[in-house]
Amino acid sequence: MGVIIINFKAYEEGFGKRGYELAKATEEVSKKVDDYLAIAPPILDLPEFVSSLSIDIFAQHVDAVNYGSNTGRITPEMLNEKRAKGSLINHSERRLRLADVDFIVSKFRELGLTSIVCTNNIPTTAAAAALSPDYVAVEPPELIGSGIPVSKSEPEIVENSVKSARDVNPSVKVLCGAGISKHEDYVTALDLGAEGVLLASGVVKAKYPKAALEELVGLR
Ligand code: G3P
Repeated sequence: MGVIIINFKAYEEGFGKRGYELAKATEEVSKKVDDYLAIAPPILDLPEFVSSLSIDIFAQHVDAVNYGSNTGRITPEMLNEKRAKGSLINHSERRLRLADVDFIVSKFRELGLTSIVCTNNIPTTAAAAALSPDYVAVEPPELIGSGIPVSKSEPEIVENSVKSARDVNPSVKVLCGAGISKHEDYVTALDLGAEGVLLASGVVKAKYPKAALEELVGLR
C-alpha cells in the first residue's frame, strides 16, 4: 500500500470539466483501494475540487512569499485558506531557489500543510531531505513524460535516493516519479523502498484515464 499523487500539470485533459472528471474518477478509485490517492490539479480548479471532493488536493506550485505587495503570486497562506492539503514544491518544470524551498517548507510546517519537494537526482534529494519536508519526490527530468518508468529503467536512482534521504533525515518519505504508468512500475517503486509515486501523463494523457488509474492500482 503506497502513495499515488497525480499531477494534472497544465494538460488540457486535466483542466476544467475534463479535470473534474479525472478528479472524480480518482476519488472513486481511491475508495476501492488501501493506497493513498491524491491529485494536484491546476490552481484555478483547486478551490472547486476541494469543496466537492473527498480526496486530498495539492497545488502544483507555491511561491516563497507572504501576503503583501507581491503580484501574481500564490502564497502558502492562500493555499491554507483554500484548504489545499499542501503543494508540490520545486517541480522540474517550476524550479525554485534552495532558500525559497526552505522558506516554503518551514511555512508549511507552521500552517500544517504537506510539503512535497521535487528533486532531480540523488544529491538534490539528500539536500531537500535536510530541509525536513514531509516528502521528497525524485524525478529524473529526462524521463518525465517519456513513458519510460524510473523505477524500472533507473532503479538505482530510486534506491539510492531513499538511502541518502534516510541518512540525512529518517522521517522524510521518498516518492519517485517520471514515466510511471503501470501497476508493475508502482510496485517496483515500493519494492525499492519508495513510499509511492508521483505521476502525470500515464493517467492524465491516457485514452481512458479511469481505466489507466485502475490498472495502476492493480484493479485490472
Ligand atoms: O509530477 C510528475 C511528473 O513530472 C512525472 O510526469 O508524465 O512522466 O508521469 P510523467
